[in-house]
Amino acid sequence: MIQEFNKIEKVTGELKLPGDKSISHRAVMFSSMAKGTSKIYNLSNGEDVKSTQSCFKKLGSEIFNKGDYLEVTGKGFKGFKKPDEELDAGNSGTTTRLISGILIAQDFESTIIGDSSLSKRPMKRIISPLSEMGGKIQSTENYTLPLHISSAEKIIPINYELPVASAQVKSAILLAGLHCEDETTVIEKLPSRDHTERMLGLRTEQKGIEKISYVSKANYPVAKEYIVPSDISTAAFFIVLTLLTKNSVLRIKDVSLNKTRTGILTVLKNMGGKIEIENQREIAGEDLGDIIAYSSKLQNVDIPEEIIPNIIDEIPILTVAGVFASGSFKINKVAELRGKETDRIKAICYNLNLLGLSVNELENGFDVSGNMKNEKVIFESFEDHRIAMAFAIMSLLLNQGGKVNNFDCVNISNPNFLSQLKLIVR
Ligand code: S3P
Repeated sequence: MIQEFNKIEKVTGELKLPGDKSISHRAVMFSSMAKGTSKIYNLSNGEDVKSTQSCFKKLGSEIFNKGDYLEVTGKGFKGFKKPDEELDAGNSGTTTRLISGILIAQDFESTIIGDSSLSKRPMKRIISPLSEMGGKIQSTENYTLPLHISSAEKIIPINYELPVASAQVKSAILLAGLHCEDETTVIEKLPSRDHTERMLGLRTEQKGIEKISYVSKANYPVAKEYIVPSDISTAAFFIVLTLLTKNSVLRIKDVSLNKTRTGILTVLKNMGGKIEIENQREIAGEDLGDIIAYSSKLQNVDIPEEIIPNIIDEIPILTVAGVFASGSFKINKVAELRGKETDRIKAICYNLNLLGLSVNELENGFDVSGNMKNEKVIFESFEDHRIAMAFAIMSLLLNQGGKVNNFDCVNISNPNFLSQLKLIVR
């Protein structure tokens, strides 16, 4: 489907968004692993989290949508059953990588498949450490899906230093480590999102630039109630739209303010963005609060390497802010973007080129400068939800508006994107 967007006059009002995608995946997984019934409030309603639910149903979890909350009855340690069919992770890298850590420790065989995008994404990053732990995982020769996981003799704890800053890899190892009596440790030098550690109540230590997380069977999840804060990665699209529109102010309620996720607010504030936080509080170890964004004049700034893992999902929308800010927008050390739902470096550069901007694509980043032409263009989503939403926001800011091809993919993280927009734009 091609979606058309016209230039807007202003942004005003208030939004309450569905739950954070990363926390939602983990809430479904941990309550499926736990023995007994858990309730999850404000779960993400995106397709990715539905994929996680469908995989765990096939493993024997009882999952019911009760309107207000999701009710999950898990089977407890090693209580999963052999699935009757393949586990389909759809478009979701988080589902695939995290569930692999759980599946290597089960006494049955399973196969994980996914859509054409997921089937191209790199899995060696989890296959290596999980194999070191004794896991039996077979993939294609390019280390891509399908993954065939067979029952291992024994899962053994490891001491692993992450070669890439990745919360998915870290979490896969930590989840496997929940199945060992002795402690597994994961060391990271660039901090990635820490929802797994927080939600499982893991012990962590900061030693200089190294963060060490410890896990063992003692941390195996128990049934409980989860309240998922709203998704800051979804909020980012509306925040950038507000900053870049005159006479605008927007409040987004109860958004996740976990420090490993608020890098986008830091960068936008450094660029001159007027962003305030109110009602900040903590629920079950996760910070949340209201974000209020105001029209601002932005200028581009240097983006340091340490913050990249913290803003990795926000780079498409940050680029939109950068294109409208004064000075040229430059980003590097983002080679990880090439392995996302699509090659996001290529996708962003392709769309910016359509606008007549001067774009320099590098192996691990890009820079963009120059003036935009005044012609309506059709942006390409490359079937990637964050590219689709970033260029929808871009279109709403262009005098001539714009169109986004294959827009339906927004359902992966935010099926209500268009109705949320309608509520706040004039
Ligand atoms: C996620 C981790 C990040 C992020 C993804 C969600 C998670 O991926 O891009 O959208 O929930 O752990 P990487 O671990 O590959 O960086």
